[in-house]
Amino acid sequence: MDKVRIAVIGLGNIGSLHLENIAKEPRVELTAACDIVPEKAKAAAERYGAKAFFDSDSLLAAKICDAVIIATPHYAHTTIGIAAMGAGYHTLVEKPISVHKADCERLISAHTDPDIVFAAMFNQRTDPYYQKIRDLVKSGELGKLLRVNWIISNWFRTQTYYDSGGWRATWEGEGGGVLLNQCPHNLDLMQWIVGMPLQIRGFCDIGKRHNIEVEDEVTAYMVYPDGCTGLFVTSTGEAPGTNRLEIAGDQGKLVMEDDRILYTRNEIPATEFLQTSKAAFARPPVWDVTIPVQGHGGAHAAILENFANAILHGEELIAPAEEGIHSVEMANTMLYSSLKGKPIDLPLDSAAYEQELLRLIAESTFKKDTSTEGTVTDMAASFN
Ligand SMILES: NC(=O)c1ccc[n+]([C@@H]2O[C@H](COP(=O)([O-])OP(=O)(O)OC[C@H]3O[C@@H](n4cnc5c(N)ncnc54)[C@H](O)[C@@H]3O)[C@@H](O)[C@H]2O)c1
Repeated sequence: MDKVRIAVIGLGNIGSLHLENIAKEPRVELTAACDIVPEKAKAAAERYGAKAFFDSDSLLAAKICDAVIIATPHYAHTTIGIAAMGAGYHTLVEKPISVHKADCERLISAHTDPDIVFAAMFNQRTDPYYQKIRDLVKSGELGKLLRVNWIISNWFRTQTYYDSGGWRATWEGEGGGVLLNQCPHNLDLMQWIVGMPLQIRGFCDIGKRHNIEVEDEVTAYMVYPDGCTGLFVTSTGEAPGTNRLEIAGDQGKLVMEDDRILYTRNEIPATEFLQTSKAAFARPPVWDVTIPVQGHGGAHAAILENFANAILHGEELIAPAEEGIHSVEMANTMLYSSLKGKPIDLPLDSAAYEQELLRLIAESTFKKDTSTEGTVTDMAASFN
């Protein structure tokens, strides 16, 4: 095989970007376009010279591709992913890989054949800023980690955004709000850089800034191994918002904000200095180190290229889909902790959380306004 024959399932905002990227990527060719809205499938098939399908089962039965990209609303990532891998297709699933941890476990356990490539669209892992920060942490340059804070409150979304899709921002349609739609990227990066916490206390505000039944503002406190603590703050209702990642280690402090990484390095590690200094108010002397980084990486196109290279040449995946369970577990635990009003230890009890979500769905009385469905035209552009 010198080209991967690929299908896109779900041709909305991000599915449309995947179609464009496939057209530009020499290692893949689009053979099928699938959406439950026939007009979308027909339009994409015609534009890109592929065959149209109106349901994923018919597409999987047709055997005209080697791989699928699943870009449907989140719940279907699990069901379609299980069916796709069961039928022998290489699978690239959008984030979040599933809505809740129990579904992640079901999806991951369907990946039984090691020859099948199973990847997740964590495009921000291709960003050199996060790669550099990860290198600095993993290499031990920062020393023992003391604190990790991420304020990511620039995921601003209007009410029109939430009203633009029947599935958006309901327990039944999406299974969560900002934590499940926008933050999978940040939570994935956070666990990729510093690992998983041992405990989370989440405070999630439901429909605080928008008329929605899920969370649109979150503050979570995390406890990590070895005394490190963390704070994660996010919102879709704050403008201009902030994207500031700050990691304090024994050997210094790293801050990423405004397209800049500044590393303030202690000449003497903080824990050593505080034990050995004879002065009461002295501080370790520091060096300011600017970390040069250029550009924000290849994003979705780079994940697609890596997926194709993994199928064709066994290249190592940038984002193996199995790792997608961690961001879902963190998001679920933040919500679960907030609903229960207490800290929750990890690993999260996936069955208990699933029951909680089913209860929220069963008790929902929210009436979804979909008045702007089909009228929003600026969403696809936001991913470029
Ligand atoms: N990686 C990223 O940067 C990124 C960006 C945006 C969205 N996403 C993810 O992509 C997914 C889709 O988001 P979107 O904003 O494109 O949504 P969307 O509503 O714009 O598009 C979803 C499409 O899937 C179709 N669909 C629904 N159920 C289907 C099914 N069972 N089979 C086939 N088609 C089906 C819908 O008709 C629609 O066209 C979400 O999980 C979201 O989190 C990822």
